[in-house]
Amino acid sequence: MKNMGAQFLIVTVFLALASSLAFASDPSPLQDFCVAVDEPEAALFVNGKFCKDPKLATAEDFFLKGLDVAGNTSNKVGSNVTQVNVAQIAGLNTLGVSLARIDFAPYGLNPPHTHPRATEILTVLEGTLYVGFVTSNPENRLITKVLNKGDVFVFPIGLIHFQFNTGHTNAVAISGFSSQNPGVITIANSVFGSKPPISDDVLAKAFQVEKNVVDYLQAQFWVNN
Ligand SMILES: *[C@@H]1O[C@H](CO)[C@@H](O)[C@H](O)[C@H]1NC(C)=O
Ligand SMILES: *[C@@H]1O[C@H](CO)[C@@H](O)[C@H](O)[C@H]1NC(C)=O
Repeated sequence: MKNMGAQFLIVTVFLALASSLAFASDPSPLQDFCVAVDEPEAALFVNGKFCKDPKLATAEDFFLKGLDVAGNTSNKVGSNVTQVNVAQIAGLNTLGVSLARIDFAPYGLNPPHTHPRATEILTVLEGTLYVGFVTSNPENRLITKVLNKGDVFVFPIGLIHFQFNTGHTNAVAISGFSSQNPGVITIANSVFGSKPPISDDVLAKAFQVEKNVVDYLQAQFWVNN
C-alpha cells in the first residue's frame, strides 16, 4: 500500500511536469478557430481575445498577401523583419503559429534578440546567413552555423539568437514560430534603448564599463526590427 502511494506520487509529479511543459507554448484552441475581433458586438467566445462568430468568418480572416515583397533594409542594421502574426491575420488567434519574412542587405544583421513565447524555425530562400544562439547560464554556449539556400535552423524558445548576412548579395529567410504572437526582445534596444533609460549606475556595473561608455550606447538610435 505504501508502495502504491509512492508510485501515485511519482506519477502525479510526472504528470505535473509534463503538463507544465505542455504550457510552454500557446494553449490548444478549444474550437476550430477563433478569428480575433477587437469589439465584442460580433463575438461569441472569449479566449484571450474575443472570437468572431464562426458563422461570420471568411477566407479573408485567414489570408494575407504581399509576403513576396522585400522589407526595406536601408537602416542601421541592414535587415527588416516582416511579421505575419495574429496582428496581421486575425484568424491565427489561439492557433499557436505564425511566420516572418526576414530580408538582409549585404552584411545586414538581425541583431541579437529573443522570442519570449516561441521557438523559431528558419529556412534560407536566398543568400548565406551566419546564425547562432546562446544557451542559458551557466554554460552560455554559443551554437552557430553557416546556412545556405534551402538550409533550415532552429532557435529554441527564449534563447538569444541572431542572423548575419555574410554575403555581398541580399539574403532572404522565412521563419515559422510556435506562437500566434512570439514577441521580440532585441537585447541592445531593451538594455540601452529603454524609455526611460536604465540608470547608468546599473548598466556600468552590469557591463563592467565606465559610465561614459553606457551614455554613448544609450545615445544611439536603436532600430526596432
Ligand atoms: C521595414 O520595411 C517596411 C516596408 O518597406 C518599412 O515600412 C519599415 O519601416 C522597415 N522597417 C525598418 C526597421 O527599417
Ligand atoms: C527605404 O528606406 C529609406 C530610409 O528610410 C528611404 O530613404 C527609401 O526611400 C526607402 N526605399 C523604398 C524602396 O521605399
